[in-house]
This record gives sequence, C-alpha cells and structure tokens, in this order.
Amino acid sequence: MSIVFYEKERLFKLDTPNTSYIMGIVDEEKFLAHVYYGEKLSDHRAGYLLRTQEGPFVPSVNNRDRIAFLDSFPMEYAAHGIGDCRESCISIRTLGGNTALSLNYVSHEIKRGKAPFGEMPASFGRENECSVLEILCEDSVTGLQMILQYGVFEDADVITRSIRVVNQGTEDIYLTKVYSACLDMDNREFESITLHGSWARERHIQSLPVSRMKHTVESLRGETSHQDHPFMALKTPGTTQETGEVYAMHFVYSGNFRVQVQTDPYEQIRMVMGINPEDFCWKLAPGAQFQAPEVVMTYSGEGLGKMTRSFHDFYRKHLIRGEYRDKKRPILINNWEATYFNFDADKLIAIAREASGLGIEMLVMDDGWFGNRFDDNRALGDWVVNEQKLNGGLKYLVDEVNKLGMKFGIWFEPEMISPDSDLYRAHPDWAIAISGREPGLARNQYVLDLTRKEVRDHVYESVAKVLRGANIEYVKWDMNRPLSDIGSATLPADQMGEFYHRYVLGVYEMQERLTKEFPHLLLENCSGGGARFDPGMLFYSPQIWCSDDTDAVERLKIQEGTALIYPLSTMGAHVSDCPNHVLHRTVPFETRGYVALAGTFGYELDVTRIPEEDRRQIPEQTAMYHKYNDLVREGDYYRIASYAENHYFDCWGVVSKDKAEALYTFIQVLNRPNYHSRRIRLKGLDPEKTYRIEGEESTYLGELLMKAGINIPNPEGDFRGRLIHLTEC
Ligand code: GLA
Repeated sequence: MSIVFYEKERLFKLDTPNTSYIMGIVDEEKFLAHVYYGEKLSDHRAGYLLRTQEGPFVPSVNNRDRIAFLDSFPMEYAAHGIGDCRESCISIRTLGGNTALSLNYVSHEIKRGKAPFGEMPASFGRENECSVLEILCEDSVTGLQMILQYGVFEDADVITRSIRVVNQGTEDIYLTKVYSACLDMDNREFESITLHGSWARERHIQSLPVSRMKHTVESLRGETSHQDHPFMALKTPGTTQETGEVYAMHFVYSGNFRVQVQTDPYEQIRMVMGINPEDFCWKLAPGAQFQAPEVVMTYSGEGLGKMTRSFHDFYRKHLIRGEYRDKKRPILINNWEATYFNFDADKLIAIAREASGLGIEMLVMDDGWFGNRFDDNRALGDWVVNEQKLNGGLKYLVDEVNKLGMKFGIWFEPEMISPDSDLYRAHPDWAIAISGREPGLARNQYVLDLTRKEVRDHVYESVAKVLRGANIEYVKWDMNRPLSDIGSATLPADQMGEFYHRYVLGVYEMQERLTKEFPHLLLENCSGGGARFDPGMLFYSPQIWCSDDTDAVERLKIQEGTALIYPLSTMGAHVSDCPNHVLHRTVPFETRGYVALAGTFGYELDVTRIPEEDRRQIPEQTAMYHKYNDLVREGDYYRIASYAENHYFDCWGVVSKDKAEALYTFIQVLNRPNYHSRRIRLKGLDPEKTYRIEGEESTYLGELLMKAGINIPNPEGDFRGRLIHLTEC
C-alpha cells in the first residue's frame, strides 16, 4: 500500500518506488504538519522532527506564543491571516470583509486508483498503479472545508497535489487565493531551476540561488506564456545530471499561475504553486465548491536526469490520452513557412504531390484558408472555407491529397475574433473587453469571451462543421495573443475575478468536446509557437508546437529546456527552409533533420522549391524517422552536453527501456580550429551489455562506453551533426 495512516503517531506516509513523503497531525487543534519528503524511508516514525516535544512550543502548552508557533511551523498547507506570515496558500474574503482562516484536520480517506477531475485536466491511473489520499480539513469559524488531495503512484516517483474547497457555511465566501501545493522544508541550501523566454526563444533554462527574497515565476497573460513556465525545481548546490537532490513541481494548468520559493528567518524553505492570485476571486455560495488544478511533484536523489525521466514516464503514462499517445505520428508537411497566406488549392496539391513521393505522410494547411483571410489582419472567427483560394472546396482538396496517399490536417485559431470579421460585426460583445474601455489589439485581433457558453458553442460548432465536412485527420489549434482588458458582458461584477480561470475551463471544455467527437483526430496545440506548452494541454493533445523558431541551432536551447520536463514525443519539431525565417541562418539540411528527429518530426517548407540537394535527402530523413521514432518516443532521455552552457556543442541520447538500443545525437554548433576530436561519455547503457555502434565492426562493453566514452572526430564546418546508434549484440 503506497499510502498508510499510522493512527498512534498520527502520521501519514506516502511511498513511491524511491521516495517517501510524511506529514502529521499535531496538537489538540489538529494542525497538519509537513514532516519529510525525500529518499525512501522504511520507518515512518519521523514525527520527532517537528520538535513538538522540545519545550512548550505547541499552542496547547504555550498559547502565549501561538503566533510564533504558526509563523515557523512546517505547514502542510498554509492558511492566511492567523499568524503564519510566510506566503500563504489560501485566503478568503467573507461578507464581513475578513480574510483569515484556519486549517485543521477532521478526517481522511484513502482510495485505490485515480480518475481525472472532470472539467479540468489531471493525471489518472488504475487501481494497481496508484492511490489517492483525501484529507478533510476545516475552518470552524466560516465553515469552509478544504480537502487536500494527494495522488501517489507506484510506477513513478511522483506525488500529485491539489485541493477542493467547499463552502459549508451559510454565507457567500470569496476565495481570493488557492494554491494547489505547498512544500515546507527545513535547513537546506538550494538553487532553483526555472524556464523563461520570449516568442521564438521559449523555455530557456535558468538557475539562481534561493535566498531570503521571494523568488516568483508567474503568468498574468491568461495562458502559460512564452515568457515564464509553471515549473520550478530546487536542487542542492553542485547537482549534476546524475547526482544531487532535486525537488520539482510542475503545474497541470494552462492559465495564470504562480510558483514561488522563499527562505524564512529559520532557513526553512517554503515552495508553493497554484493559480495566480492576482486578479483571481472566486465566489463560493453556500454549498458550492472549487476544484484547484493539479501539481505534479517529484523528488530525485540522483540529479536532474532522474527528475526528467520521472516526468517523462509519468506524462506518457498518466496524463496524455488518445490513440496517438503510443503511436508513431504521421510525418507532416506544413505550408506556413512555405507559403504564408499566399496559396491556393493547386499550390497545396503541388506540395502534397512532391511530398508524397519523398515519404511525407500528411499535408497540413495552415492559416489563411477561411473567410477573407488574405493576411493576418482579418477574418478570425469566420471559419468558412474561402473558395476563391480553395477552388473546388475543402472536400475536393482533402480528397485530392488523400488520393496521393497522404492524410490531411488543418489549422484553426478558435479562441480569436478579428475586428474585421463577420463574427465581430454580428457579435461585438463576444470579444473580451471592459465596458467603456477600448481593448488592446495584438496581431490585430481580440480574444473571444469563452466564459460564455453560447460563444463556446458557436465556435465549437463552426470548427466541428468544417471537420465533419471532409476527411481531416489532424488539427493544429493555435492561440496567437495573450489575454488583456479582462471584462465580460455577462459575468456579474462580483464574479469578474473568476474570468481568467473560467476562460481556461472554457478552452478545456472545447478541446474535450473535440477529442470526444473526433477520437481519431491528432490534435496539436500551439500558441504563437510555444506559449501554451504545458501539461494541461497535453491532456488533450499528445503534441504541442514548441516554437515558431525553427532554426536548428536555436532549437537546441528550446528543446533542451522543453525536454527537461516533457517527453520528446510531445515536442512539435520541423525541418524548415534556410536561410531560416526567424534567424536568417543557414544550417545544413542534415543537421536540421537530426534536431527535428528529437521531436515529432515534420517539414515546414515548400518542397517544390527547396534546393535539389536538400530535397534528395528527404527520403533518407523520413526513413530515419521511421527507424528511430519508437526509441525516441518511448525511450529514456539522457542529457550529455548542453550547447546553452558550453556554447560549442550539444549532445543527448535516448535509450530503450530494456537498454538493448540507444541513439545519441551530437551537434557541433561551432567548430574549433586545430581540434582533433571530442570525447563523449555515453549515458544510460547497461554496463554489462555489449554494444555495436552502427557503421563500425568493433563491439564495446557498455561500461567502457559510459566510463571512458567515445571519440567524435571534429567535423568540417559549423552546425554539423552526427547520430550514434547502438544495438546490443
Ligand atoms: C502562429 C503559429 C505558426 C502559424 C501562425 C499562423 O504563429 O505558431 O506556426 O500557424 O500562427 O498565423
């Protein structure tokens, strides 16, 4: 049993294969205390760590110093306003204007198996894979019930956290803050790892020492954002890929978030994660409840690599759904960088004809096929085929592409509305706006008010109608601007603080409908590149477009940061034309292929116009994808060298679960004069197995390849890549 309650000591112990998590009920008032999280323990009796026996510390013995107790005690989930002045996890506003509450244990329940939440993405597992613990706590003054939720997995070193809040009182209560997880830890020196960026350079890794300052990462853009990511890891100084302790949290959510770490005067650490409380206020009428999104938490005693692999395995098994989760995805060619808005049916068929002969399996028609969308200034919301461009109609085009033996995919941006659109002319109040204030434009577009059911229904129906009309097997769901000027024509004033979260729930509802009605559809989420790359979206789409930056060298940094927590199978990656459209750099076609191979793999170029020497490589590349994709999609990921850190070369590997096969990718970004070769120590192999390196006669013991390494000759020129494929012999 992975969750045990020890009645006598009033301790809970949660065990995953390699970690233990202990919390306890303390004193007569039944405070819930955090005791331990880390390396697996065989003994649960760690309650002495709470120091409750050392002198008159707890309120039942020394109520005179109650506040000192509350302000320093390691809380499992900190309530606001009664004495704990570190960052709290939950706060309210009552009709009387009060904000404080207390959180005291009442009862608990342990169940086998874990179902997702219903209206929101969350992890799941069968009865033989995981258990759930729900601890009911209460604030006796307001009647607010707080059910702390823990999912404990037996096949992954992951504990999930969340909370459901129920108003059992007799008056409305406004929830003004509700984080999903809190982790109080004693006396540790830590550095944080977070992910940051901007458009075209998403999820670059940053590391900083944790200090007495509150260290916050957050989004207020209504989506996860290009700029910041709902992830934080704390690592002990000197942590490497293989050594050191790492505590990480990742949020299964696609809207405003906050993650924060703080050291208190006693050098205790508090780490919290949840919905961003700024602009958040949720009305709870008597009897109403609020379910917070889920946090995925992992501990690794074996460095960052172990953390990465725990997240990868967990998401592949317990979060991503649908038939493509465990399946090779069709190699697609997308016409965005090939044509932008300048295409018609003939052009697309010409691309498809050429592509089909080269091993490409699906044509994706990107932005510009609907309404009067001749550029990016208009027509979002008018999801009706533009027959001037697609002469013969959509069905004709799809059928023609299918006749070439290719699948067909299409782009939508369902959450948007252009001021110059039939939809806006008919329903100006459907755009998010504050009454009396002109909303700000981004890419000349507004965002639809998805808190309104009639808006969601209309958009869903217009998207579904297109999909029902032809054999469309893939959808790219885009979202090209952040939210601003928050206001809804229908939400009452005292519920406007619910807007951001209701918006996210609206997106989830629409994607749930889509995946239910079209269960065979391959859905790829996207947001101006990678602004909504998050675990929430992975619940609906097994892949997400990583970045609009398709330059293979820039992608090394973006994909390293993304792969730190996300499986390679989720990272939308394409070979595009050069000079690259964002960076104007030219990288060899072969190298572009190696970099895209570490993701979903596809093309984003006009295959009828690229240089012949590039085109000639495509059949070889598509064969390479088929040869290695099972390994890339399902294998264990190892980071060997980081171009972002060393500025010269990058190297990563994937190793099959049985360690019988491995593929390493080495990219020499910048050449160095007068340099012979570089020694690389491979990772993840079985030291006792013997391997053959493809293309070589000799065989090597795994131990040798890992401890001593291999020599990679210095390539001629910059941006050169190499694959090293090993099989057991
Ligand atoms: C976003 C996407 C691109 C492309 C364009 C179309 O920027 O990330 O891939 O679909 O929109 O407008």
